[in-house]
Amino acid sequence: MADTSLSSFEDPARHRRASDIIRRYSTNRADVRDVLLAGLDVSFAKTVLDLGCGFGFMTEALARRAAPDATFIGVDACEANGPAYVRRIAATGRSARFACQHIASRLDWPDHSFDLVIASYAMYFFPDVLPEAARVLSPDGVFFAVTHTENSCRELLGAAGLPAADPRLLGNIRRFSADNGRALLTPWFAEIERVDYQNQLVFGPAEYDDFLTYLRFKLPLLLPETDPDGEIPRPLADAIRAALSHQRSISFEKKDAAFRCRGPRCR
Ligand SMILES: C[S@@+](CC[C@H](N)C(=O)[O-])C[C@H]1O[C@@H](n2cnc3c(N)ncnc32)[C@H](O)[C@@H]1O
Repeated sequence: MADTSLSSFEDPARHRRASDIIRRYSTNRADVRDVLLAGLDVSFAKTVLDLGCGFGFMTEALARRAAPDATFIGVDACEANGPAYVRRIAATGRSARFACQHIASRLDWPDHSFDLVIASYAMYFFPDVLPEAARVLSPDGVFFAVTHTENSCRELLGAAGLPAADPRLLGNIRRFSADNGRALLTPWFAEIERVDYQNQLVFGPAEYDDFLTYLRFKLPLLLPETDPDGEIPRPLADAIRAALSHQRSISFEKKDAAFRCRGPRCR
């Protein structure tokens, strides 16, 4: 498996800025969390495991729908996410604790420990843990996974002047995307419902800096050698500025999909 840099996630403030930019430049004005969670009943969920929890962007919305006395365990490889995660969930009235762990293919919890298991924008980092996610879920529980379309990554690469078909740059998303998610989930869940969020990001010439900020956040996920604190390589920055000056805008697909799964099957 390719080595993915997690440097973009080591600073929750940077991650939040990228998240704010996505919301500001989205053509779909509906909140992605409202769309992907619409009609999903998790009011029964008292025990929740959140894999790759980050600062709790998606989970905050799930927490508001969970049982009032629900407890969340957020797991993330980046320690800095802990305080922000616990604060966000606590603000919903639910309790949370954080475990700094690098998820690979095993989970430490006994069978059927959780009513809800979440992997929001994270499953592509650790797809080998999927059988374990099913194992630790209670028989009536819900597994909720959010990911992007592969084409969204291709279009972002194209907008940034990078080779949009380069398999190395697409390696991350291909581990668990909107396109292959159902096939990867089918061995582990009896029931899989997919919900889509249709969207594009559009940046005008005056918004060049916000596009670069977003790109600086995304690049380490695509090119592990890139430093999110570093400058965008000069030729790339110049090409983007030139594109904006004659195209008047940069736009690319940013579609997400949620898989809402029930009926865990164990090995
Ligand atoms: C795109 S963020 C998503 C965060 C959050 N779930 C959300 O919905 O906003 C992915 C998160 O997964 C974490 N992560 C990536 N690989 C990991 C691994 N192998 N083990 C644990 N956490 C990981 C990153 O540190 C990051 O916080």
